[in-house]
Amino acid sequence: MSTNNSNSINPGFDVTKFQVGSFQSSSHQPLDTSVLATMASAYFPEFSKLETTSLPQSVEQPVQLRNEFSEAYFTNEIPTTLSSRPFSFLEEARSIFTEIENTVSNQSKSQSKKFGSGYKDVSFEAVSIPELDVYCNQFNVKTIREDFPILGEKVNGKNLIWFDNAATTHKPKSVIERLTHFYEHENSNIHRAAHTLAARATDAYESARDKVKTFLNASSSKEIVFVRGATEGINLVAQSWGKYNVQKDDEVIVSLLEHHANIVPWQMICSEIGAKLRVIPVDGTGQILLHEYEQLFNPKTKIVAVTHVSNALGTVTPVGEIVKIAHRHGAKVLIDGAQAVSHMKVDVQALDCDFYVFSGHKVFAPTGIGVLYGKTELLNAMHPYQGGGNMITDVTFEKTVYQAPPSRFEAGTGNIADAVGLSAAIDYVNSVGIENINKYEHSLLEYGMKALGRVPGLRLIGTAKEKAGVISFVIDGFTTEEIGNTLSREGIAVRSGHHCAQPILRRFGLEATIRPSLAFYNTYEEIDAMIAVLCKLKKSSLP
Ligand SMILES: Cc1ncc(COP(=O)(O)O)c(C=O)c1O
Repeated sequence: MSTNNSNSINPGFDVTKFQVGSFQSSSHQPLDTSVLATMASAYFPEFSKLETTSLPQSVEQPVQLRNEFSEAYFTNEIPTTLSSRPFSFLEEARSIFTEIENTVSNQSKSQSKKFGSGYKDVSFEAVSIPELDVYCNQFNVKTIREDFPILGEKVNGKNLIWFDNAATTHKPKSVIERLTHFYEHENSNIHRAAHTLAARATDAYESARDKVKTFLNASSSKEIVFVRGATEGINLVAQSWGKYNVQKDDEVIVSLLEHHANIVPWQMICSEIGAKLRVIPVDGTGQILLHEYEQLFNPKTKIVAVTHVSNALGTVTPVGEIVKIAHRHGAKVLIDGAQAVSHMKVDVQALDCDFYVFSGHKVFAPTGIGVLYGKTELLNAMHPYQGGGNMITDVTFEKTVYQAPPSRFEAGTGNIADAVGLSAAIDYVNSVGIENINKYEHSLLEYGMKALGRVPGLRLIGTAKEKAGVISFVIDGFTTEEIGNTLSREGIAVRSGHHCAQPILRRFGLEATIRPSLAFYNTYEEIDAMIAVLCKLKKSSLP
């Protein structure tokens, strides 16, 4: 038998980890997989279930054996030998195999009987779960982390673990350096001066608009309005479109999943106009009920404003269907993409939505810059949101002639530098590849959901099939503040509270949850670290 240790095993308190071992016949002879199953179950009884069902009859290529811990293991059966030192399935396995090798000559008969024939040919290679996907996608999380200076920060003496990405994301060096470059070499107000720096700043700002246009696949840069963030984008549409197109007794549809930013602006104009707010219900997993949604329509329905990804539960809503149904009923659709753009490819033309909003700071760009996308014909017909410089072509005391969109909606001096920073953030996301990001985050999310689900007394809130980036939970016997503070003491930043989405939490009978939210610079080890703290907390409360 040979032991192949080409990949490193991550040390640490691994009791929550679904370790994957890759077994291979070193002589390249087909190996009966039942041998692997027998060996694993004989030596690792603490793994309650060995997923060998999908394995072929025999293997020539490396195969992965995935092992799961039982609920009981978590609650009271963590052997002291394992809990008192770093533990890894693969390390255990390696030492056991070495032991067999040393004793095999004396005991070959009994070993063969116990494990079947052929175990001598097994080589052992450690493959950690993150690396599996990383290798598939050429996605190297270690290199990516080096691009984010703040991830090296110590918090309370511990390495920072940032699981508050739904609130805001961190910025890569390229974005920080782009801002510095702007202020050192390009800083000027835009559009209104003939000098060189004005031209540089205007070019940088307008090419940022072009970048966003491509990012969202809008049909023209004129459809991209720079705003402060998703909140301002929604308020702009509510005021500049809603006020003129929603009349008394008309109806506006939102979903139960919405962030307050996509509820309050609509509520404000509805109460001003005398219109009605209707709400799409969700099922027990936190997914929108499409059939009930369609029932809400009538000739008075003017607009549907719905989130693409729920910030409280992570549900990815069926926005394509939502748009189709709304258009069938003659209503417009605004999609709140604040939690979507950092996790998945967004194509506004494919979605055929009328408006789409997002915030730069949730997609690795600075705060204070965001985007409203609107279809050309709608923006052209809309009234300005605010009045002032930059949005006019002519002003007299009798009358003002407004610029065409997007300038019409960008009164005053905008956030020029941060628009340029947003452009750099989009470049960064493109350089990693949104498909790679999506795939990596998806396996991270699945891993986290599964592992957290095994913490005794932990209740996951939001278990829709389609989810992105967000895990929400509560733990029996602890307030969300207690859990948040305990994690914070260990350097782990999660959000605890109502996440500005009170209606959806109340749907689940809650006022607050703990919400770890992921980005592509997070790792499986960070999830393990969070779970280890939660397990310790839970154990400390046991009699
Ligand atoms: C789904 C959703 N919509 C809107 C917003 C508001 O974003 P901002 O505060 O950047 O305007 C948020 C912020 O958390 C959000 O998660």
